[in-house]
Amino acid sequence: MEVARVQAIASITKGMDTIPSEYIHSESERPAATTLHGVVLQVPVIDLSDVDANEGKIVKEIAKASKEWGIFQVINHGIPNEVIANLQKVGKEFFEELPQEEKEFIAKNPRSQSIEGYGTSLQKEVEGKKGWVDHLFHKIWPPSAINYCYWPKNPPSYREANEEYAKRLREVVDKMFKSLSLGLGLEAHEMMEAAGGEDIVYLLKINYYPPCPRPDLALGVVAHTDMSYITLLVPNEVQGLQVFKDGHWYDVNYITNALIVHIGDQVEILSNGEYKSVYHRTTVNKDKIRMSWPIFLEPPSEHKVGPIPKLVNEANPPKFKTKKYKDYVYCKLNKLPQ
Ligand code: SIN
Ligand code: FE2
Repeated sequence: MEVARVQAIASITKGMDTIPSEYIHSESERPAATTLHGVVLQVPVIDLSDVDANEGKIVKEIAKASKEWGIFQVINHGIPNEVIANLQKVGKEFFEELPQEEKEFIAKNPRSQSIEGYGTSLQKEVEGKKGWVDHLFHKIWPPSAINYCYWPKNPPSYREANEEYAKRLREVVDKMFKSLSLGLGLEAHEMMEAAGGEDIVYLLKINYYPPCPRPDLALGVVAHTDMSYITLLVPNEVQGLQVFKDGHWYDVNYITNALIVHIGDQVEILSNGEYKSVYHRTTVNKDKIRMSWPIFLEPPSEHKVGPIPKLVNEANPPKFKTKKYKDYVYCKLNKLPQ
């Protein structure tokens, strides 16, 4: 089956005043009607420089942001700017410089259970209305989870750039799990251990949002919380990510080379609801291409996730069931009770 890529639709609708009806969202979902502009509140920005000397302060800031917002940005995280620039360069080249047939070689197989590959959201995944976005999914860590057939062969430096980013990101991930753990009064290693330790899967997604002639009617990714433990993301410089807090949508300001950290459903569960997964969405731009590179840290599908036993007692009973991650995903995607 041929799937219409948003990139192709964008080149046809360029300069027009309309977009196909399946991309037009209901009035209540449209970005303009619901976004709060000019507000002072901003997603917290946390400086990770000198973690050892500043551990107490950083733990407090991360825990507060994870309870109140479910999202924060980190700066001075230790990943060299050049490593981020290379990741972005090769991803952009895949979407923009390869012939379409070559991209389709690694298209997601609609019959396969796996989410990996080049793709475009299907209608049923997004409550009837499509997102103005194409994507590429593939795992980048641990080595035993990687399936290189979903990695672009071109540009030739794609693999090296992605492997280098994954290697550097692991150090930031360790810091995040440690702080989240200490922030709940646990030992530094406990949350990572409960999450599956070395078996945690790093799933990369590249989002490619082409220019959209009617950004007022469309959305990039519709509002959702991530199913992951946490998601670490670098966007390009085009504004688009919004988060929901206290009844309003806020723009997440772009900060060059910062990493955006989302708390996902599985950390909300591990923490027995102390940390909150963030409800977010993306808007699209009339003239500019937006791209983003989230990495979802996920449990292996058979791994059981539930509130960490030390965090529950008679006065504070478990708020979530303990279940295999694959069962959690099945219920969420099929909108069944958890
Ligand atoms: C997503 O939540 O899946 C996308 C986030 C982004 O593009 O910034
Ligand atoms: Fe997301």
